[in-house]
Amino acid sequence: RSDLPIYTLDEVMQHATKESRIWVTYGQGVYDITDFIPQHPGGSEKISMAAGSSVEPFWMLYGVHKNPNVLAILEKYRIGNLSAEEALEATENMEDPYAKDPRRHPALKPSSKKPFNAEPPPSLLSENFITPVDLFYVRNHLPVPDISEKDYRLEINFQGKDFSLSLQDLKTKFEKVTVTAAIMCAGNRRGEMTQIKPVKGLNWGHAVIGNATWSGARLRDVLMHFGVKDDPGFEHVQFEGLDADVANVPYGASIPFEKAFDPKGDVILAYEMNDGPLPRDHGYPVRAVVPGVVGARNVKWLGRIIVTNVESNSHWQQNDYKGFNPSVDWDTVDFSKSPAIQELPVISAICSPDAGSVVKLDSNNSLNIKGYAWSGGGRRIVRVDVTADSGKTWYSADITAQENKKEPHHWGWSLWSLDVPIPKGVKEVELWAKAVDSSYNTQPESFANIWNLRGVLSNAYHRVQVKVTA
Ligand code: HEM
Ligand code: MTE
Repeated sequence: RSDLPIYTLDEVMQHATKESRIWVTYGQGVYDITDFIPQHPGGSEKISMAAGSSVEPFWMLYGVHKNPNVLAILEKYRIGNLSAEEALEATENMEDPYAKDPRRHPALKPSSKKPFNAEPPPSLLSENFITPVDLFYVRNHLPVPDISEKDYRLEINFQGKDFSLSLQDLKTKFEKVTVTAAIMCAGNRRGEMTQIKPVKGLNWGHAVIGNATWSGARLRDVLMHFGVKDDPGFEHVQFEGLDADVANVPYGASIPFEKAFDPKGDVILAYEMNDGPLPRDHGYPVRAVVPGVVGARNVKWLGRIIVTNVESNSHWQQNDYKGFNPSVDWDTVDFSKSPAIQELPVISAICSPDAGSVVKLDSNNSLNIKGYAWSGGGRRIVRVDVTADSGKTWYSADITAQENKKEPHHWGWSLWSLDVPIPKGVKEVELWAKAVDSSYNTQPESFANIWNLRGVLSNAYHRVQVKVTA
């Protein structure tokens, strides 16, 4: 592209408004992106922040741009070049916002590194009722904030009044309670839905769920301490994280006040996970644990709680984590028409054997299969059905680990196992699993009719094909 004119950084800077047309730089390239701004998938406000300067610091924050497809779009708008010296100057002193992220266990397989998003190998999940912290999936939208216990304050706001607590206050002024709860991302098993038709979102497998013990103060106790009472004016409790984007907008979510204040709702402000301090990736020093509710509302690095009559206006509450009709696409979607996901539907998955593996049958000509099952809203798993012949014969798996808790306050997952008889001579089988919860909800048979453009609520029968040797 050496045929294009050379511009200076000063000239680029003068193109920061629509009237003067909006220019940005990337590497040595200069781009006029005015016409792309209204089409930007991340919104026109965000992209406009780079007006008159380099997009690189923003792209370091939003790793989705590290993709040849994005560069191909950008190239269409190239109008010139910077000199080699000025290109260097444009990105000097640029710090990687992810430089202070914690070290992760190499067994976690990333679907994106910046922000860090990763899941463990599924076969490890069914080994333990409690998922070890280092193997618990991580779903971050932004860099992990660097928080010191000394400076940490949790702010609580209601009726225009602000209160605050230190970590020490939270640990000493309130009863410490422990809850066993699975947390699952709405995008768990998205990769299977994508095979029907592409969706927008991280390409997750079936290990974007974990089961842990969470200890901390009851949200109800903390709210009551500051004078919150059951009041019809309070409809929502909003949570804000201490992780923020380039415009200093924090990660945010909200849950219904009824869930937050319910003495049996078991919503806690957790400072421990599996009896140790909360790891940085999982929300150190404090996260909201909202049992039975989608991962997105379990806000990590909790900085502020707002008791109010309105839902969080955050992007993730309003314009993300929602379900739609399979025929709704990105041209027709109206996010205001669907409620934000709260309680998740019933799901299960086969964790072992792995898809595509070659398995040896035991002396009874059967094959051992293991997995997890879970349902939102505190519904207990009452059965897991398995078939190895596309539904002609169904077997019920043994539930091998489950908490002795009553529905609808059953927050942990269930592990299951079964020796499935395999007819003699069969060389390849497709195993299917579906779970049934205490409301007799079960999983849909296929993805085709539950497909949605964000690839959430992806809970059709789990199917795994394996080769069999005697
Ligand atoms: C998403 C292109 C600048 C913030 C995207 C996507 C594309 C894109 C193609 C969708 C990616 C996907 O979902 O796979 C571009 C181009 C830019 C630009 C060509 C050139 C100027 C920016 C800037 C910011 C930004 C400067 C921030 C200040 C975002 C965000 C998303 C996004 C927040 C959504 C991420 C998500 O859904 O998780 N952009 N972008 N973009 N972009 Fe940009
Ligand atoms: N809280 C904050 N502050 N920032 C985030 O990016 N991600 C949410 C939720 N809480 C997120 C957050 C999502 S989408 C999920 S699925 C869970 O955290 C993931 O929790 P984990 O990383 O501890 O597994």
